[in-house]
Amino acid sequence: MTDAVPTLDDVLDLLAGHEERAHRTLNLVPSENVLSGLAKVPLVLDSYHRYFFNESGAPDRWTFRGAQGLRDIEMKVTIPLLQRLGKASHVSVRPLSGLNGMTLALGTLGGPPGSTVVTIGPGNGGHYATPSVAARLGLRVEFLTGPTPHDIDWEAATVLLRRVRPTLVYVDQSHCLFPVDVAELVRTVRAASPETVVHVDASHWMGFVLGGVHPNPLDLGADSFGGSTHKTFPGPQKAVLLTNDPGIDARIRETQDYLISSHHLAAVISLGIALLEFAEFGPGYAAAILANTKDFAAALSERGLTLAAADRGYTAGHQLWLDTESDGVPAPLASDRLAAAGLVVNYMEGLPGFPGRGVRIGLNEATYHGLSGVDVPELADVFATAVTGTEPPAALAARTAELRRRWAHDGQRSARHDHLTERAREVVATALPLRYRAAASSFVAAR
Ligand SMILES: Cc1ncc(COP(=O)(O)O)c(C=O)c1O
Repeated sequence: MTDAVPTLDDVLDLLAGHEERAHRTLNLVPSENVLSGLAKVPLVLDSYHRYFFNESGAPDRWTFRGAQGLRDIEMKVTIPLLQRLGKASHVSVRPLSGLNGMTLALGTLGGPPGSTVVTIGPGNGGHYATPSVAARLGLRVEFLTGPTPHDIDWEAATVLLRRVRPTLVYVDQSHCLFPVDVAELVRTVRAASPETVVHVDASHWMGFVLGGVHPNPLDLGADSFGGSTHKTFPGPQKAVLLTNDPGIDARIRETQDYLISSHHLAAVISLGIALLEFAEFGPGYAAAILANTKDFAAALSERGLTLAAADRGYTAGHQLWLDTESDGVPAPLASDRLAAAGLVVNYMEGLPGFPGRGVRIGLNEATYHGLSGVDVPELADVFATAVTGTEPPAALAARTAELRRRWAHDGQRSARHDHLTERAREVVATALPLRYRAAASSFVAAR
């Protein structure tokens, strides 16, 4: 493409090209997932344009009334399902993303400027942004650290907590193969600094917690938890905060009004649809991610690739970390080779315990598409061969596309799904014709 600004036709071409590629390739980025077709519907409808503030539905509170007819979806679908699956009496669906949810949690629970928050050190997988967000809110930051990337030193934690008496311990694992032991963390905090609030940012673990295959942080004693709804949970790009503590809920509500105006109602509705679906298949899906990821790790290792944490079973979640550099393949080159084979991965510096760059992958999206145990050896074969660069990428890309085709055909079909697809088509059709185009041409014609 030249330096000229792409035309509307060019933009549609780019979208169509991306869409076509997305259907024949496989995304293995652990921070991403896909939405079901049904859950995408609200994102193209009038719901996308509307503010929604009147949670009570009181007739005299519809100062913004554009979403009046949609209130029940947020209040009777999304929030109750989150309360049920998240085992929490209070839920905020206002955060726009994990980072926005982190800002809301730190802004609410971190205390006044000058207070101290304790979070997970970068060497143990803490999120890169937490210290900076906290510092911008005037908070001091201290880190929990440990003898390995996967363990926290609880004695050192006790000493730190007694010394700094933080307002908040914010658990922010982002590079994570094994979840922090929240029960031990809560015990340690309660003993060393009883006034401290414990919040678990479960962005990467959300699908496991809501699917019931990882313990719920609230059951383990945390005061609140939350995180993104688009990593292991197959939902829209959004985040949520949950608690059983009415005081914490009141503080979150007080703060969120000043950090978030539009909470992207269409995404809240999309989340409601994703939760309705997840309530049916979530536990099976979450368990399948765990099984697939472990099997995939073993299959890659059998094919000669070096993975982190081999001595402890590679992972207890959806992430795997590959040290391709120790296998003689620089991580960016591995990523390029994999992309040519139709496999999209995430490479980076700073993976805990890695001297150089590493490749981070996740099986959450592949499992959503239909990856099952019988496909793991084939996918591992394509992956390992691509990294070593020993076969033409086009042949590997064809094998990846074949896996995608197989899963599309194996997809569960029933009269109920056909009926829902037909209804969704009818609803989406009401958003057509595309009025922006029509309006733009009438302005031009009027001049
Ligand atoms: C613990 C944690 N918090 C926040 C975020 C940011 O989430 P988002 O990208 O949805 O803003 C991430 C993303 O990886 C994360 O792992």
